[in-house]
Amino acid sequence: MHDYPTILAIESSCDDTAAAVISNGKILSNIIASQQIHQIHGGVVPELASRAHEKNIISVVNEALIKANINKNQLNAVAFTQGPGLLGSLLVGCSFAKSLSMALNVPLIAVNHIEAHIFAHFIDDPKPNFPFLCLTVSGGHTQIVMVHSFDNLEIIGQTLDDAVGEAFDKTAKLLDLSYPGGPLIDKYAQNGNPKSFQFPIPDIADYNFSFSGIKTAFLYFLRNNCQKNPNFIQHNLANICASIQYTLVEILFRKMIKATKHYRVNQVAIAGGVAANSELRKRMIAFGIEQNIEIFIPKIEYCTDNAAMIAITAHYKYLNKVFSDKLVTSDPRLHLNYA
Ligand code: KG4
Ligand code: ZN
Repeated sequence: MHDYPTILAIESSCDDTAAAVISNGKILSNIIASQQIHQIHGGVVPELASRAHEKNIISVVNEALIKANINKNQLNAVAFTQGPGLLGSLLVGCSFAKSLSMALNVPLIAVNHIEAHIFAHFIDDPKPNFPFLCLTVSGGHTQIVMVHSFDNLEIIGQTLDDAVGEAFDKTAKLLDLSYPGGPLIDKYAQNGNPKSFQFPIPDIADYNFSFSGIKTAFLYFLRNNCQKNPNFIQHNLANICASIQYTLVEILFRKMIKATKHYRVNQVAIAGGVAANSELRKRMIAFGIEQNIEIFIPKIEYCTDNAAMIAITAHYKYLNKVFSDKLVTSDPRLHLNYA
């Protein structure tokens, strides 16, 4: 065992092939190859994603090692995303990591993708202290998680249907924007008025969310307005984007405020791809100042899928001697670790 381990981490859960090298808890490289092929299909095509991972993985790993100035014989462990995600995509990273760990005779570390989004907060200073509350918002997940420790994550609330990232992407698709639509809605919203149009805020119990109703409301809103004015979208794009973005962030916020008050936490974090959203980031900062709560917002490159977050999670697993058996397999529906 090494007190200052050097670890190669691979992330291949969806449509980005990524690799990072971490040494003694410091990220030395963080490489990502995004798959453009899905743009023409308006969403991720699983079979195309796994084929692209196979094509990219060797060069992405090589680049990560070269950038970190690390020879593969210096690695003390190999980590990979076990799940959740697309099975074919996950299998590419899992098989590659297993083979490399066997060839180098070093431990293998399986990492949960959603836990890694949360533990991205441990890459840079200041780091949160346990326990803290984390709003995890991605293309597949919307959860409020009480993070008790590295191996004890309690889901306080979650979406009952679509994830908020999906709501961003689906509304963007109705506006004829390309995939993934979240960043484009964010971009066009910059020049719009968030109060131009109103959309319903669902009334869901506890700390849970629902985003399917707003998607339907948005579809009818566009249909009605486009019937009256065929150029409605073109003439109002910025205001439409600002209004839908405001509503989606408001839905997240109401539950977050409720959970923060009920659990009386003084540290709140956001994580996952939607944490890159400028409106959400802005409101989190204002919320922190207003409530005297410490807010943790990851750098943009650590919000969307990346291997640095897999590497930092693997670093703590290594220190706690949490290794995986060679028989470990990919799990598309992997759950959070809750003691
Ligand atoms: O975490 P992530 O990269 O992948 C998953 O694990 O799902 O999240 C991807 C999601 C997509 O739905 C994408 O549209 C959304 O994050 N996203 C954004 C922004 N950047 C990425 N949504 C809103 N505003 C953004 N700036
Ligand atoms: Zn993700």
